[in-house]
Amino acid sequence: MPKLNENFLKLQNNYLFAEIAHRTAAYTEANPDKPLIRLGIGDVTLPLSDIVLQALHQSVDEMGNSGSFKGYGPEQGYEKTRTAISDYYKRNGVSVDADDIFISDGAKSDTGNITDLFGHDNIILIPDPVYPVYVDSNTMCGNQITYISATAENDFLPMPDHNQHVDLIYICSPNNPTGACYNKKQLQEWVDYAIANEAVILFDSAYEAFISDPELPRSIYAIEGAKKCAIEFCSLSKTAGFTGTRCGYTIVPKELVFRASNGEEMSLHAMWNRRQSTKYNGTAYIIQNAAAAVFSEEGMAQCRKNIQYYQRNAQIIANTMTELGIRFYGGLHSPYIWFECPNGMDAWTCFDYLLNQIQVVGTPGAGFGENGKNFFRLTSFGNYENTVEAMNRFRKLFC
Ligand code: MLT
Repeated sequence: MPKLNENFLKLQNNYLFAEIAHRTAAYTEANPDKPLIRLGIGDVTLPLSDIVLQALHQSVDEMGNSGSFKGYGPEQGYEKTRTAISDYYKRNGVSVDADDIFISDGAKSDTGNITDLFGHDNIILIPDPVYPVYVDSNTMCGNQITYISATAENDFLPMPDHNQHVDLIYICSPNNPTGACYNKKQLQEWVDYAIANEAVILFDSAYEAFISDPELPRSIYAIEGAKKCAIEFCSLSKTAGFTGTRCGYTIVPKELVFRASNGEEMSLHAMWNRRQSTKYNGTAYIIQNAAAAVFSEEGMAQCRKNIQYYQRNAQIIANTMTELGIRFYGGLHSPYIWFECPNGMDAWTCFDYLLNQIQVVGTPGAGFGENGKNFFRLTSFGNYENTVEAMNRFRKLFC
C-alpha cells in the first residue's frame, strides 16, 4: 500500500467554491421553481471581445494548415505573447523584460505550483482572510503557515511586523476577497521589509485591471527594488474574461538569486523555467494568440468596456450597502464587495439566509479565513439586470 500524502487530511473536505456549488445545487434541486442569482464565485458573464474572437478564429485556421500548424510550443510561452504583455506593462509605466514572463493557464495554477521552488521549512506569511489557494497549496505540501491579520482595523491591508522575520510573503492587491488595494508607500514598505529579510514576495495582481486610480500600483514592479524580491502572478480571467479560456502569466525576474545551503547560487527564474519545462508543456498556441490580442492597445480598449460594465455593477452593490447602512469594503478598485454580515449573523448563516430568503448566492467570508467569519463577499461579475434585481431583494430583506 502506498503511503499517502496525509497533509490532505488537514484540508477542509471541499475547496470553497466546490462547497458553495454543492450547497447551491442541493437548494436548486429542492426548489426548482426558484431561480437563483449567482454573485458567488468571481466568474465573468460577458462574452469574449471581438478582437479576441478574431485572434481565436485566425489561429484555429492556422492550426488547420500544414504551413502554419504548430506542435509543442516553447514552455515559457510564445515570444509574441510575452512581448505583448511586456509592452502592456510599459504602457502602464512599468518595465518588465519579456524574457522574465512565463505564460501559463492561469494564476490559480501558478500560485499553487510555485511551492515547488521553495523548501518546506520556511516561515510563510499569508494574510487572513485570503484567496484559499495559497493556504491549501501550502497545506498540501506540509508547509507551516504564519497568518497575518487583515481586519477592519487595518482596512484589510496588513503591514509588516519589523520585529518578525519571514521567508515568503503572499500579497494579493487589489485583494481577493476584501477588495482592499495597497498604495505605493505601503507596497514600498513590504518590498523594503522583504529585501531586509531576504524574503520573497509572491504578488498576485489578478485584479489589477480594476484599479481606476492611476496613483495606485498595478504591479509590484512599480515599486523600487521589487525585482530583487518579488514574483508576480497575473491572469486574463478577470482582465479579459478568460475564466473558461484559461491563460495567465508569472513574472520571475532574473535578479532573484539566492544562495543554497551548500553556498551555490540558485536563480528562481532558472528554477521556474526548469520546473515548467518538466511539468508543463505550455499554453495552447490558439489561446496565446488570443492573449496577445488582449494586450494590444485595441484589445485593452475592448476589455476595458467589459470591466466598466462590471464596475457599474460594483457601484450598484456598493450604493445599496450604503443605503442599507451595511458596512462594506472594496467595490472601488475591485470587482468584490466585502460586507459585514447584517444582524450579527456568521458568514455561513448569512449564506443560507440569503439563499433561502432571496435566492441570492454569495461567498461566505469564513471560506477565506478566520477573520472572514462575520463577512460576506459579493461579486460584480454577474449581469447588470441580475445585479439590480439582487439588490432590490436585499432592500426588501434588510430595510
Ligand atoms: C474567486 O471567486 O475568488 C475567484 O473566481 C477564484 C479564482 O479566480 O480562482
